[in-house]
Amino acid sequence: MPGAIYAEGLVKTFGDVRALDGVDLDVPEGTVLGLLGPNGAGKTTAVRCLTTLLRPDSGKAVVAGIDVLEHPNEVRRSIGLSGQFAAVDEYLTGRENLQMVGQLYQMRAKAAKARAVELLEQFHLSDAADRPAKTYSGGMRRRLDLAAALVVSPPVMFMDEPTTGLDPRNRQQLWEVIKQLVSGGTTLLLTTQYLEEADHLAHDIAVVDRGHVIARGTSDQLKARTGGERVEVVVHEREHMATAAEVLAGFGKGSTTLEEHTRKLTVPVTGGAKLLAEVIRELDIRGIEIDDIGLRRPTLDDVFLSLTGHAAETEAEEDDPEADTGHQSEKEAAK
Ligand SMILES: Nc1ncnc2c1ncn2[C@@H]1O[C@H](COP(=O)(O)OP(=O)(O)OP(=O)(O)O)[C@@H](O)[C@H]1O
Ligand SMILES: [Mg+2]
Repeated sequence: MPGAIYAEGLVKTFGDVRALDGVDLDVPEGTVLGLLGPNGAGKTTAVRCLTTLLRPDSGKAVVAGIDVLEHPNEVRRSIGLSGQFAAVDEYLTGRENLQMVGQLYQMRAKAAKARAVELLEQFHLSDAADRPAKTYSGGMRRRLDLAAALVVSPPVMFMDEPTTGLDPRNRQQLWEVIKQLVSGGTTLLLTTQYLEEADHLAHDIAVVDRGHVIARGTSDQLKARTGGERVEVVVHEREHMATAAEVLAGFGKGSTTLEEHTRKLTVPVTGGAKLLAEVIRELDIRGIEIDDIGLRRPTLDDVFLSLTGHAAETEAEEDDPEADTGHQSEKEAAK
């Protein structure tokens, strides 16, 4: 039985750009799917197709048990959407924006008011509640937009880069709100550029590149595929880089990357802090002075590098110099 969000062979072309080139997705009810990918990968296009804002050229999509192509209006009633570009009404205040959404969803005026107050509080917008949204900062708009998507609690939610442009504190707070939402049974598809975000929130991750899902799994599975953690060392003397590379090669589970100008060496490892201590000891024995050393988890870049064999952006640029310029300003009609 298909999950709460299901897509099969979704294709969408814009001229000669194949924004979606046969995307399959299946999100079980009550879980979060993180859609990761570089700029121009097709994330927003996928969200727009699934939320009825865009008609795919071919393929099948079922959301909340309803066929998206056959019954778009019914789908709209069952979903919430927070688009990549905040879709708040500039001239209304924060409070009015939220009340308006409530009324669009046929809430009684009193209930819509109460819900607005609740959300303004939750998103730290109470102080600015009665100012027109056009006076809000970027992060405040983002939060208002997310609050608007949560006025009613639809069974299926879509969030396109919900925390881009938020400061770290607001990002963390939003993660809490999202976790609450999901613990209440909501199914969520979330796009993000941050592996850390997917890590915190997503049960399952689909990595998209050039309109294809190129990898799928839990965050731990994807990281394991990229070779686990990295040891990063900055040596004091450039002349020591070659020797340091030899040392790292002895501990590494993959090839060592050297960055001459920053005197930085990186190697994938498994073994955590204990291994780090051993690396430090070995470097010391060889008389290599270090400026900095640390263990870090793989980033989205590492995942990409390992999945595609090259940095994602370079590839996109070569093939499609216009890759990121095709956006129309979006009116999120599903609101
Ligand atoms: N309305 C459109 N007209 C023409 N091309 C478009 C349109 N919308 C998207 N594209 C193209 O489709 C491809 C996928 O775009 P999409 O917006 O889905 O990427 P994305 O993964 O959301 O990227 P980002 O991380 O930058 O938001 C890009 O090459 C983009 O230029
Ligand atoms: Mg996008």
